[in-house]
Amino acid sequence: MKSLLHSRNIFLSLLAVVLYAHSSCWACTLTSKNAAQAEEKDWWQTAQFYQIYPRSFQDSDGDGIGDLKGITSRLEYLKDIGVTAAWLSPIFKSPMVDFGYDIADFYEIQSEYGTMDDFRELIAKANALGIKIILDFVPNHSSDECEWFQKSLRRERGYEDYYVWHYGKLDADGKRIPPSNWLQAFRGSAWEWREERQQYYLHQFAVQQVDLNYRNPAVVEQMKRILRYWLDQGVAGFRVDAVPVLFEVETDENGQYPDLEVSGTTDDKDDRTYLKNNLVENRPETIDMVYQWRQVMDDYQRIHGGDTRVLLIETYAPPAYTMQMYGNRSVEGAHLPFNFNLITVLKQGVSATTVQEAVDEWMKNMPAKRTANWVIGNHDQRRAASRYGVQRTDAMNMLVLTLPGASVTYQGEELGMIDGEISWEDTVDPAACNSNKDIYENFTRDPSRTPFQWTAGTNAGFSTASKTWLPLAPQYQTLNVDVENSSARSHLKIYKSLVELRKSSKTLQNGSYKYKALAEDLFVLKRFLNGDDTIIYVANFGDKTVTVDLQSEFDATLPSTMTLKISSLDSTKTLGSDINPKSITLAAGEALILSSRTK
Ligand code: NOJ
Ligand code: MG
Repeated sequence: MKSLLHSRNIFLSLLAVVLYAHSSCWACTLTSKNAAQAEEKDWWQTAQFYQIYPRSFQDSDGDGIGDLKGITSRLEYLKDIGVTAAWLSPIFKSPMVDFGYDIADFYEIQSEYGTMDDFRELIAKANALGIKIILDFVPNHSSDECEWFQKSLRRERGYEDYYVWHYGKLDADGKRIPPSNWLQAFRGSAWEWREERQQYYLHQFAVQQVDLNYRNPAVVEQMKRILRYWLDQGVAGFRVDAVPVLFEVETDENGQYPDLEVSGTTDDKDDRTYLKNNLVENRPETIDMVYQWRQVMDDYQRIHGGDTRVLLIETYAPPAYTMQMYGNRSVEGAHLPFNFNLITVLKQGVSATTVQEAVDEWMKNMPAKRTANWVIGNHDQRRAASRYGVQRTDAMNMLVLTLPGASVTYQGEELGMIDGEISWEDTVDPAACNSNKDIYENFTRDPSRTPFQWTAGTNAGFSTASKTWLPLAPQYQTLNVDVENSSARSHLKIYKSLVELRKSSKTLQNGSYKYKALAEDLFVLKRFLNGDDTIIYVANFGDKTVTVDLQSEFDATLPSTMTLKISSLDSTKTLGSDINPKSITLAAGEALILSSRTK
């Protein structure tokens, strides 16, 4: 997984800068965009997206596993924190090898999560509260327990080519070996032999996650049917899983798949990054499929009315590829290809310079008139607070909520939840289980999947079971909704005030932007709009106290008095007080949001 997600291609990145740059000063540290963007925005452009990991949000029946009724019972919480659209990780029938990303029936709800009626109730209540529900669409693969795969195994009519089958090849000793050296995301060969068909099948993820064959029009149609089926149930769109690996290179004139070259980045021969994966991910055909799905969304709205149905695309790819997901001058693509730069680029270290690099890489490559978005965590990454450093929790939440475009919160980020401590015995993630006791911690994604923390009580209020499916993360006694809602100051309260500011501020919704890394540690972002308040975000990502003059080092037009609107948890400055941008002292990890409006 890690390997797949992190593969980057510097050459393509550079090419992308050249191809997509539309800013006049892409090479300078000071970036600004002045185009007036005051036009009306559609709901998703300013949405407050929130990712729910259903297995870990709220258990309603005491089995230690979250479920749909649990989610329904907590929708008011989402409303309270200002969420406008929630995307749910997969809730479909699944043997749970990859916790729902291995779907056995795309039209059914997993019984431990509930029933179709429970789902309808969830949608009805969410609608009543003004929250849109988005489902996870997993088009690349099905579970090996899926009926389609069972039929394909038996070569039943219509299903023969539903998956990517191949006889393999013979080695020098005449022994049959897999068709190519390709590796799966969770370690080892991407090919699995099946006696029944006397063939290998392709799986880019676990052995039980069988790659569907997108060169078969029946598969393409089936997957569109699934989209329409769930749209009929009232969902507002889809987060689309693992898009980069949808297509692989075709067989050559001899009917063989080419081997991938060795990358030279690791000696671990089972790790997917051992190979250059250029032939098995980010293929041009994949982009076209995204455009086709967008057509499904738009057609649906045309026929049935209602609000825009959105596509959010999971793609960890170089910008030249990712940006094509948006569409081009003649065709629309995804509304939002997820922007993971604040995750991937900041792996080098968290500083104002890496933050600037991450923001630049998106804003300078994004085609004109598209909407940006910012993601700092999800169920595949370590917890944001643990990854960036706990003292930077608010600085990061404040950043994603003041940058232009949509923002996405992974459940618990608003509380500052930290990584769970998961032993080898407790780890259940296939990415870890396919490794061994000594190295599993490099792969396990379980630390960010622990139960959501509602209270300081038993199982953090998540479940009444004696054992939850994953153990609770540390510090749930203090990092939880109850405690944080009743404290005078907390991560949650900061998050809520950010969301309120975003909702009420035309500047944050429609305004222009300008940002700069001041030295190593200080990052400053200005949002501005004619006739409206100017908003400044300034954060110290370093370990030392720093004093800065924003007027001379960043923007001479800043007023000499600004009001402190929001500050990070440990800040000692008084909210509502006057701040002179000519001299601001920020402690390590401290972040502030200032407004030009004086009370
Ligand atoms: C990406 C998902 O986010 C991850 O959890 C999953 O393991 C893979 N895709 C395979 O579906
Ligand atoms: Mg349950």
